[in-house]
Amino acid sequence: MHALPQQASPVIRLRDYQPPAWRVESIELEVELDIDASEIVARLQLRRDPAQSLPLRLDGENLQLLSIALDGRALDAEAYRYDGCVLEIDGARDGSMLETRVRVRPAANTALEGLYLSGPRESGFLLTQCEAEGFRHITFFPDRPDVLSTYTVTLRADRARFPVLLAGGNPTGAGELEGGRHWARFVDPHPKPSYLFALVAGRLEHLARDYRTADGRAVQLKIWAEADAIGRCGYALDALERAMRWDEQRYGRNYDLDVFHVVATHDFNMGAMENKGLNIFNAKYLLADPDSTTDDEYRHVEAVVAHEYFHNWSGNRVTCRDWFQLSLKEGLTVFREQSFSADMNSAPLKRIEDVALLRRAQFPEDAGPLAHPVRPAQYSEINNFYTATVYEKGAELVRMLAGRLGADGFRRGMDLYFERNDGRAATLEDFLGALGEANGTDLLPYLAWYGQSGTPRLRAQGHHDAARREYTLKLGQHAPGNAGPSARTPLPIPVKLALFASDGRMLPLQLAGEATDAGSERVVVLEQAEQALVFTGVEAPPVPSLLRGFSAPVILECDYTPAELALLLAHDPDGFNRWEAGQLLAARAYENLRDGSTDTSLQAWCGALARLFADDGMDDALLADLLTPPGEIELAEREGAVDPGRIHQLRQALQRTLAERLGADALEQRYRTLAARRSIALDAASQASRRLSRRLLELLEACASERALPLAAAQYRDAPGMTDRLAALAVLARGQADEGERALADYRQRYAGNALALDKWFAVQAQLPGLAALPRVMRLEKDAAFTLHNPNRVQSLLGTFVRANPSGFHRADGAAYRFLTERLGELDALNPQVAARLATAFNGWQRLEPGRRALAQAAIAELAGRAGLSRNLGEIIGNVLN
Ligand code: PHE
Ligand code: ZN
Repeated sequence: MHALPQQASPVIRLRDYQPPAWRVESIELEVELDIDASEIVARLQLRRDPAQSLPLRLDGENLQLLSIALDGRALDAEAYRYDGCVLEIDGARDGSMLETRVRVRPAANTALEGLYLSGPRESGFLLTQCEAEGFRHITFFPDRPDVLSTYTVTLRADRARFPVLLAGGNPTGAGELEGGRHWARFVDPHPKPSYLFALVAGRLEHLARDYRTADGRAVQLKIWAEADAIGRCGYALDALERAMRWDEQRYGRNYDLDVFHVVATHDFNMGAMENKGLNIFNAKYLLADPDSTTDDEYRHVEAVVAHEYFHNWSGNRVTCRDWFQLSLKEGLTVFREQSFSADMNSAPLKRIEDVALLRRAQFPEDAGPLAHPVRPAQYSEINNFYTATVYEKGAELVRMLAGRLGADGFRRGMDLYFERNDGRAATLEDFLGALGEANGTDLLPYLAWYGQSGTPRLRAQGHHDAARREYTLKLGQHAPGNAGPSARTPLPIPVKLALFASDGRMLPLQLAGEATDAGSERVVVLEQAEQALVFTGVEAPPVPSLLRGFSAPVILECDYTPAELALLLAHDPDGFNRWEAGQLLAARAYENLRDGSTDTSLQAWCGALARLFADDGMDDALLADLLTPPGEIELAEREGAVDPGRIHQLRQALQRTLAERLGADALEQRYRTLAARRSIALDAASQASRRLSRRLLELLEACASERALPLAAAQYRDAPGMTDRLAALAVLARGQADEGERALADYRQRYAGNALALDKWFAVQAQLPGLAALPRVMRLEKDAAFTLHNPNRVQSLLGTFVRANPSGFHRADGAAYRFLTERLGELDALNPQVAARLATAFNGWQRLEPGRRALAQAAIAELAGRAGLSRNLGEIIGNVLN
């Protein structure tokens, strides 16, 4: 065989898409499992596209090729070439059968892509991760999502070491072999792309439940985990059943195999993976119990279990033609998951949480050097595109479409989309086409949203004409500077709106020229660059409530007075917009403090919140959110030359001002009332009271820390569950007194055997503000429980520090920048995906104040200049530097 020269990482472009020249109708895999060296035989039934004449080329990386045969005959070395990435084979015909045998090394696989070992070599288990391009680390294959095949998988292994053998599909047989070995076979009748293949082998326990689908199929649900974790899988199993019912009722989608397996691992690069019939989860999104799981984490478990299950239709039955269409499955599935969570919990709180995440994670991404469209035009490493833009902004785009069609119309459209594309690898055009066609409308203008980056701005300006009793609302849109060339055409922007009278009542909406009024809320779709709406019969200047429910992912520019925002904050029945008014007012109040400006925002914000605080009718959870000003990352988005240390101090001052206005006595009294009701119940009211009690304790910390610390110490000690315990620990740790160190030491010991609880111990300390953080992080790296090999641990300590602690990471001396580039070098050699994700912390460095900017640039440039960076980290660093 001839070696081809190794290529530099090429750029893959959407516009270069070609259908596959060769497809694989079916694949038979035989896997001999072993920790150090596993062997894989693959038999591929090949189909050639008669319109193309390319030779057979298969992807394969880190594979030791043992033998290769075509149509039953071993191939000579002259008949194939392998360059370490692509295997090219001569002589294949339509209908040929190719057999390869390869060896892979699971225990040496630190990148956690392909077949790898989770846990210690004596006791851990083997598993695979294939999305996006991991299957090529297991066998030679056209590893692209538009090649769909049926899979027959036979696993063989030592029975004592690997008692449980699982693969996707239905089990069709199992038995004993000589020498203490055994085998198991799985057949998946649904053609699927290689990224959905999975296997698991090892010592695992399970929790099972029988389920019957709405269309009558008996399904065994099984959740698998290691013995010490199986007791924490009950919540996930219940959540799975809820998700399956919901998808039947809301989308008419039934499960389609006889078994559905879910497996928990502590060693996983992402959140979870929707492999057909065999979902694999980061333990963090599957295990839950009151002693070690917070309320927020419970909701995440429910959401991620549902998300992966929903992929069975939005992703698996209908998959993506190529990775540029990633949001076709991810944006849609996040939207489905958000709707499910809204139905299971409080819809307005869920909306607030989702938009807060969008602003914290996606807006900054979209405003910096890593910005890309929801459907990117190019990439060099696809793993770098599992981003907040593809997921969260993608979900917002689906939400706009759903809103535009209404519940029934959207369901009709989804039915057609699923029906027409079942068993196919589809595109975003297929999606918009089906939704539009089922409703007799053209949704292709929405494609523009998918093709441009940056957050659009929506400008709104109102004018009241007392003589004509008219209110004119001018709406205008403009694309951000980085939107790209396609941004010249205006986007369709649905603006849900209402008008308020000065007493807080909603006004009936009567548009000039319309016969009947349309109630007090309506959606106007802005389709031009500018548009004016004239409302008639408006006696006095109204207050507009715009983008209700966050009806489009844009930045609203509207010159509200503080009094107008206070009015919306007090009266808007749209829970989201009520919160939104509070956020806008808080951001203005922050500017009062920052600039010494003298408008009345600060008083208006504090005053409005004081009234809500005193209002018995308020929901505790919403009140907690209203009492929380925008976070430091969001505030930084509003500034020119960012000084994260100063932003932290100003935000603290803002909270202190609010806390003083509410009064330490009142805060403490309300806190004590809630504390007296503490429990571990998961109902909405109990969660809400924990949420509010945490916020009150933090506000008390801001205005009277000497009163907050003893309360926190007692709360830490008496907490019935993790939500209360962790909230108290964070306050104590920030207090930086002996109690803080004592509580941290207690926690460290108490949860020594619980990886997920320990992650939170690292994260709490990585969030200490300011100069204290870096030395603390460096000390924690020496803790026996810290390792660069475990993605969750890296994320909890390093990820939290560099991405969720702006004042700690952006030290004025630049020491944390150099610290990060050092760690990135070490990490990149072990796990390029994790390194690349951590490196996104440098996003936004161009907007730092000059001193920090220069230090950040020097650190990044030094890293960029190093030889041998992975394609993952190389692409991120290259893009960041621009
Ligand atoms: N597809 C997974 C999801 O549900 C995410 C993932 C991507 C997991 C790549 C592993 C690898 O969102
Ligand atoms: Zn997903």
